[in-house]
Amino acid sequence: MSPYRIRLTVNGEPREASVPARRTLVDLLRYDLGLTGTKEACSVGVCGACTVLLDGRLVASCITLAVQVDGARVTTIEGVAEGEKLHPLQQAFIDHGGFQCGICTPGQIVAAKALLDSNPHPSEDEIKDWMMGNLCRCTGYYQIVESIAKAAAGG
Ligand code: FES
Ligand code: FES
Repeated sequence: MSPYRIRLTVNGEPREASVPARRTLVDLLRYDLGLTGTKEACSVGVCGACTVLLDGRLVASCITLAVQVDGARVTTIEGVAEGEKLHPLQQAFIDHGGFQCGICTPGQIVAAKALLDSNPHPSEDEIKDWMMGNLCRCTGYYQIVESIAKAAAGG
């Protein structure tokens, strides 16, 4: 079967690719577009490592097909900073120990960004509830929640 030509906007830039029907969004990002910040861990939509924003909504890119994002706007971890300036969440994860191995971190930060975009001052319970879909094997979660709370509080 011949590949599908898709056009999308990734982190504000127009991008195009030819993809087979079974290509996943995470593979499109990592292997076709060279955006390796998005990680793949479970590959079945349960860990949150591959989280990206699709037209502003959180999606697991490991269970989203590339052909489904034709014409859409995708934001990955590479699009979170403003030029050379880290996003407040990125700085807070550094300052407050929000990561160890870092595999889950791009997904954590993209998910947390979606939270703060819609609710700039979440309570601790709201942070925990929102972040429930993003698993971490290293940190024990306390520093992740703290990092998000500090970013929301301005550092
Ligand atoms: S790798 Fe996509 S949810 Fe785990
Ligand atoms: S920092 Fe290692 S899995 Fe979260």
